[in-house]
Amino acid sequence: MIKLIDVDKYVESKYQRIFILKGIGLEINSGDFVSIMGPSGSGKSTLLNIIGMLDKQSAGEYYFLDEPVHKFNERRTSKIHKEHIGFIFQAYHLIDELTVYENIETPLLYRGVKRKERSSMVAEMLDRFQMVAKKDLFPEQLSGGQQQLVGVARAIIGKPKLLLADEPTGNLHSSQGEEVMDILKQLHKDGMTIIQVTHNEKFAGYGQRIIHLEDGRIVS
Ligand SMILES: Nc1ncnc2c1ncn2[C@@H]1O[C@H](COP(=O)(O)OP(=O)(O)OP(=O)(O)O)[C@@H](O)[C@H]1O
Ligand SMILES: [Mg+2]
Repeated sequence: MIKLIDVDKYVESKYQRIFILKGIGLEINSGDFVSIMGPSGSGKSTLLNIIGMLDKQSAGEYYFLDEPVHKFNERRTSKIHKEHIGFIFQAYHLIDELTVYENIETPLLYRGVKRKERSSMVAEMLDRFQMVAKKDLFPEQLSGGQQQLVGVARAIIGKPKLLLADEPTGNLHSSQGEEVMDILKQLHKDGMTIIQVTHNEKFAGYGQRIIHLEDGRIVS
């Protein structure tokens, strides 16, 4: 499903090129559940953003479903992102002006799902995350953990082929964290491909494979 060949990400400063990712080679098959671990600043979020087509590599090749993403323009990558990828962000990234209900609904609007179907799908998510009573609140009226749950609901509602999760449990207390991990486990069982970044050894173990990053390189 995903193939990265010798991918670099760097920023040019006045005198030198600073590498954030260097020589990343990675293959992930459809249906895999992969965990990415590594110290703060090692490039985990940058790698996930590139895989999720929210950021572009500086060099190297990226194939998604056998298509050469590195040759695509922004419009085309954005279309692939909306169609196939769900993303749980490290810092929620909810839309402040939209209610809980509307935030969860947004991926379905991009995908052109009809109104009636949208409302039943959102209702199911609200129910699953026990947020029915919160549906008309705005993100700032929720706790951090509740915002994260809305972020999870939004990421999975469109049943994406690929789910990317950047510390999905980072802001949750342990029982909420377990709850989210159990949801990921179930989605994986149902066939979704999942890549998560986590600092939590136990949660990393939910994946079948752990990739360790250090200083922008895969070390194991
Ligand atoms: N646009 C940018 N310009 C310059 N440096 C950047 C940019 N984006 C990220 N970096 C740097 O790249 C490195 C990797 O950042 P990244 O956010 O990928 O780390 P991370 O492994 O996700 O860390 P954390 O565990 O703290 O979330 C950091 O040193 C960061 O400062
Ligand atoms: Mg990060």
